[in-house]
Amino acid sequence: MKILVLGSGAREHAIILALAAEEAEHELFASPGNAGIAEDATLATVDQLDGGAVAAFANENSIDLVVIGPEAPLVAGVADELRERGIPVFGPGRAAAQLEGSKAFAKRVMDAASVPTGRAVRAASESEVEAAFDDLGAPYVVKADGLAAGKGVIVTSDRAEALAHAVHYLPSGPVLVEEFLSGPEVSLFFLSDGDTVRALSPAQDFKRAFDGDAGPNTGGMGAYSPLPWLAERFGSEQEFVELVTEQVALPVIRQMDAEGTPFIGLLYAGLILTDAGVKVIEFNARFGDPETQIVLPRLRTPLSELLLAAASGHLEDEPQPEFADDVALTVVLASEGYPEAPQTGRQIGGLADAASVEGVRIVHAATAGPDAPGGDPVATGGRVLNVVSVGADFATARAQAYDAIGRISLDGAHFRRDIAAGVAE
Ligand code: AMP
Ligand code: GLY
Repeated sequence: MKILVLGSGAREHAIILALAAEEAEHELFASPGNAGIAEDATLATVDQLDGGAVAAFANENSIDLVVIGPEAPLVAGVADELRERGIPVFGPGRAAAQLEGSKAFAKRVMDAASVPTGRAVRAASESEVEAAFDDLGAPYVVKADGLAAGKGVIVTSDRAEALAHAVHYLPSGPVLVEEFLSGPEVSLFFLSDGDTVRALSPAQDFKRAFDGDAGPNTGGMGAYSPLPWLAERFGSEQEFVELVTEQVALPVIRQMDAEGTPFIGLLYAGLILTDAGVKVIEFNARFGDPETQIVLPRLRTPLSELLLAAASGHLEDEPQPEFADDVALTVVLASEGYPEAPQTGRQIGGLADAASVEGVRIVHAATAGPDAPGGDPVATGGRVLNVVSVGADFATARAQAYDAIGRISLDGAHFRRDIAAGVAE
């Protein structure tokens, strides 16, 4: 197949690597891509927010499938334009992408579909925020209602801090004040063709910047899969996945279909396992980052077949995706100052040495260059690289990952040292 992947992050690099690892040979294109993706796909320069330009590229190059990685092109309606022109595309249209683009929209759909989620109040002024705090109590959860790359959310017991966060976002529209939910978090991905869903293996993301879940929320500092503790709680991973499929994924997919905005693409359910049952904290309309980087290396079913089946309405014909028994984890290397003010433009050394560690792959998130052959790439953003490690157990995979990341040099960089530590006994 000829496949075009839109995006430039580690998630897109992981998608490209999974497609390239299939037995079937594919011709892979990416736009805009990054320094790592350039080694595994042909880079194109198509404006990823311009549906007409993406369609023209797809037609000129006889592309069989377009995979949209990030949320911005989805919210911009790129999938709609491709679908109108008959080009198979994995990713929801603008209306369905509101499940991620607007937290208020997602709450309304969940209510309509009776999907379990925390109580939420839409607050348009400081006094409404205060009233919601009184109503819902501490700890306080405040969310900006729009795309904020994981940074629009605050969870704190400090009322003044929570109020300041709300006041910061209020000029751009109402904020959501939510009931605080307590319990372990799970990211579960569902492929959907608008009607049928297929679940991937559950993963856990580490959202806070520093060890021990300290510091601000980020886009994600690491992840691991599978989650061995799910079996203790639910009998097996399979039973957990079936429960979430029945209680969350199918009701939402049916609701979206009934509203005339079918969801074709990846429904990312961000879940909290509370004492009162599984509850949704958020939906995303695309693969998670960094979870994709550790879910896809374990996938044994060809990814291209699943994505094409979803894009063309034939997911029902696909078997349930199968996963290796191996475990996978990723540690994110972030620039100095991430998430508030990441330093960019610094050189990254030691990549080949890191990649030589057994079971390890370096997946690029925000890199460019090198300017000269044989040189080092530079960091171009906050989350720079993912060290992805696959092994027979978490102790092995952790040892490999931390050996590899120790071989990489990037001035001022930081990473978490406790990724999957809790499951590596
Ligand atoms: P979100 O962008 O909605 O996924 O929120 C980012 C992170 O904030 C989540 O992964 C949770 O760790 C935390 N969070 C969000 N909503 C809640 C909530 N209602 N209760 C507790 N923690 C939350
Ligand atoms: N890892 C969180 C996200 O992709 O939004």
